[in-house]
Amino acid sequence: MTDIQTLAEKARAEVAAAADEEALKAIERAYTGKDGVVAGLLAAIPTLDPSERRAAGIAANGLKQTVLEAIGSRREELAAGALAARRSGEGFDPTLPAPRPSRGSLHPLTRVTRELEDLFASMGYEVLDGPEVELGHYNFEALNIPADHPARDSQDTFFIDPEAHLVLRTHTSPVQVRAMERLEPPFRAIAPGKVFRQESTDASHDHTFYQMEGLVIGEDISVAHLIGAMKTLLRGIFGRELEVRLRPGYFPFVEPGFELDARCPFCEEGCSVCKRTTWIELLPCGLVHPAVLRAGGLDPERWSGFAFGLGLSRLVMLRYGIDDVRHLMGGDLRFLEQF
Ligand code: PHE
Repeated sequence: MTDIQTLAEKARAEVAAAADEEALKAIERAYTGKDGVVAGLLAAIPTLDPSERRAAGIAANGLKQTVLEAIGSRREELAAGALAARRSGEGFDPTLPAPRPSRGSLHPLTRVTRELEDLFASMGYEVLDGPEVELGHYNFEALNIPADHPARDSQDTFFIDPEAHLVLRTHTSPVQVRAMERLEPPFRAIAPGKVFRQESTDASHDHTFYQMEGLVIGEDISVAHLIGAMKTLLRGIFGRELEVRLRPGYFPFVEPGFELDARCPFCEEGCSVCKRTTWIELLPCGLVHPAVLRAGGLDPERWSGFAFGLGLSRLVMLRYGIDDVRHLMGGDLRFLEQF
């Protein structure tokens, strides 16, 4: 029995001195392994006097238990020590400068949108918002877009429900009618925002992009007002007077409808931006169609107006020389950090 007690003392001392997991494993092997101390004690039992065998067996197993328990608590001790060392900042130099927090920056679309909002607000325009999930009524019918118009095709439009009651708006023009319903004429308003089209994407097309709708309602509004407002807009965007020209353009919600081109702000005799024509196609516009005024609850005999649809994404690309529209919605920090 004293033998066993001595062995137990020895084992406990060894375990207490073990500095790492490897040392603990070695002790465990030495005592409880196949050829270990305990196995030796058990093997010797048959040589003992039968009266002593039972006590010897109990003692041997007791030793095994003692060793395993000692190893278990030492293992916990070692782990706690390692954690405490890490917590106390071992290997950490408090005199080094802290890493700089990254500050982020405004998305180029946000920048240009805010600039244009300021510009238009200074000219008495209200800034409106409209839903991105829009009623088919506002996206199409109220805008005089006939049932057989290609925009109604599911090739071009993301429909939310099979009855085409709800769509992801394909343009910001639905805000025109919402504005007429809500505001007391005469008024001026812009509505920047996201629009969606179901088309294959490439460097100049994305399924999600930004437009800015403009709408002016008043009495006796003419194409001259439209051109004047567009020239002011261009001066605000490019910082100088640009020559403009109107080409006829068809949109069911304006009559007459135009495509407004501006002299290329980047060159004089043709460059890659203007595709060597010296003109850049900038925005579709026109006088509000009487059917749209009526849909908005206004009497076309009394009220008239002009509307324009600025391609915000395109403008941002022109402004910063971005060659692929998909960068704008890509969320890649290497792109965004440049602004
Ligand atoms: N909503 C039209 C489009 O997305 C653009 C437009 C707006 C045309 C306003 C005329 C007037 O293509």
